[in-house]
Amino acid sequence: RAPYYLDCDTGIDDALAIAYLLEAAADESRGIDIVGIGSVSGNVSAAVGAVNTLDLIALSGRTDIPVAVGEHHPQGGEFRGGAPHVHGANGIGDVEIAASGASVVDESAAEMLVRLAREHAGELRVIAIGPLTNIAAALRLEPGLPSLVKELTLMGGAAAVPGNITPVAEANIANDADAAAEVFAADWFITMVPLDVTMPNVFLEHHRQALIDSGRPVAVAVGHMLDYYFEFYVGVYGHRASALHDPLAVAIALGDLELKSAPVVRVLVDDTAGPGRGQTVCDLRGVYNGFPEQSGAHTRVVLALEEDFAPTLLARLLLA
Ligand code: BDR
Ligand code: CA
Repeated sequence: RAPYYLDCDTGIDDALAIAYLLEAAADESRGIDIVGIGSVSGNVSAAVGAVNTLDLIALSGRTDIPVAVGEHHPQGGEFRGGAPHVHGANGIGDVEIAASGASVVDESAAEMLVRLAREHAGELRVIAIGPLTNIAAALRLEPGLPSLVKELTLMGGAAAVPGNITPVAEANIANDADAAAEVFAADWFITMVPLDVTMPNVFLEHHRQALIDSGRPVAVAVGHMLDYYFEFYVGVYGHRASALHDPLAVAIALGDLELKSAPVVRVLVDDTAGPGRGQTVCDLRGVYNGFPEQSGAHTRVVLALEEDFAPTLLARLLLA
């Protein structure tokens, strides 16, 4: 079976992503093996994100997946408390789910990632749906990581649309621009799932209601979490809805969707201190062939899908 490592900052849309991945893995015919999950500070602290993750996977009956706590602070900076206005004080929309009582493993997320990459050399698929602090830390522990990992798919950045945390920067990249710059400069093939494609793919009230009506524990829990997320997004879309950032990255990593536009280009992350900090400068027109900081065009930037993602996500979460 194909081994997957997930790095997350759980988070409401991270919870949707975890649920999607668990449901896909539950389908034996898919051959998906979730070999580890790491948490990183972003929407909540790495420690809180790990607890949310453990509780969610226990709700799905998966107590066998190791969860590691990752980096608390971004590189060279301080964790500033996350995004309670978006994800609630506990990160999951202030919804209470049963405490699993399970423990995290005795290694950091970066250590876990490096160990798994060595154990599954050339096979490990990495999906990152939070700030890239753990991935950059793993690169420092093992500079040969890019050749050990089969592929890296990440939710982050904005190619040709505005940012969501500054005029130009998306939250996962902006929360640790130094780490992101290192990850994008390393010599591996990246699939980037930016705001360009995540913002137009949304859940609406009828999707949320279907999750709650299903009576399935994880679907019901994420349905209730979405109530909080929908309220935040009223200020963005003008009505109750939620962008499907993180589950979309998981679905693309699993090859579940047909991509309409996904050019392979050079991407430079602005890690300077100015107003552009955290911007993903994507060379969509190929004008920067002499980009000195880049090792070439090795990032597939997903700009559009052939289909609306919401039905695929809903169907996956409602499968008996
Ligand atoms: C990303 O930032 C986080 O708040 C979400 O979980 C997602 O990973 C969207 O910009
Ligand atoms: Ca996230």
